[in-house]
Amino acid sequence: MKEILFVLCAYLLGSIPTGLLLGKAFGIDIRKQGSGNIGATNVYRTAGKKLGILTLLGDCLKGLLPVLIARAAGLSEAMIAGVALAAFLGHVYTVFLGFKGGKGVATALGVFLGISPLAILLALAVFVPVLYKWRYVSLASITAAGVAPLAVAVIEQRVEPTAMALVISFIVVWRHRENIARLRAGTENAFR
Ligand code: G3P
Repeated sequence: MKEILFVLCAYLLGSIPTGLLLGKAFGIDIRKQGSGNIGATNVYRTAGKKLGILTLLGDCLKGLLPVLIARAAGLSEAMIAGVALAAFLGHVYTVFLGFKGGKGVATALGVFLGISPLAILLALAVFVPVLYKWRYVSLASITAAGVAPLAVAVIEQRVEPTAMALVISFIVVWRHRENIARLRAGTENAFR
C-alpha cells in the first residue's frame, strides 16, 4: 500500500509542468513558442536563460526527490526503480496537460542522479562534447540517452535500475522523433 502511494505521488510530482508554469508566470505560453516543448531547452530558447535554468532545476528535482525519499523510506530496489519511472512518466505524460508533456531529459537527469550518479557523469561526458561540437541539445540528449542505460548496467550491475534506465532512455529517444526528423532535414534549432 505504501508503495502504491509513493508511485502515485512520484507521478503527480513529475506531472507538474515546471516550464509551462514559469513561462505563464511571465506571460508566455511555452507550448506556442519555439519547438513547442515544455522543457528547459525551449524555455531557455524563448523565455531566456534564467527561466531556462530554473526549469532545468525544477524538472531535475522532480526526478531526484522521489528517488531519494523512496530510498530513505526503505523501499526495495524494484520499488525505487518504479518510483523513478513514475516521476519520469509524470513529466512526459502529465495528467495536468491531457497526457501531453515534455521529452523527459531533465527529469531523467534527476532520476539517474538519484539512482546512479556515476552513470550521469558518463552520460554528461558524452552530452557536453556533442553539444559543444554540433550545438544541438536534442542530439546531445539522444546520444546521452543511448549511453545512460549502458553506464547504469556497468556501474550498478543490478537488473532493476538497468531495466528502468532502458525504458526511460527508449522513451526519451521516442519523444525526440520530431527533433530527429529536423536533424535529418537540417532544420533543427541550434543552441546559442
Ligand atoms: O530536452 C529536450 C531537448 O533535447 C530538445 O528540446 O525544445 O529543442 O525540442 P527542443
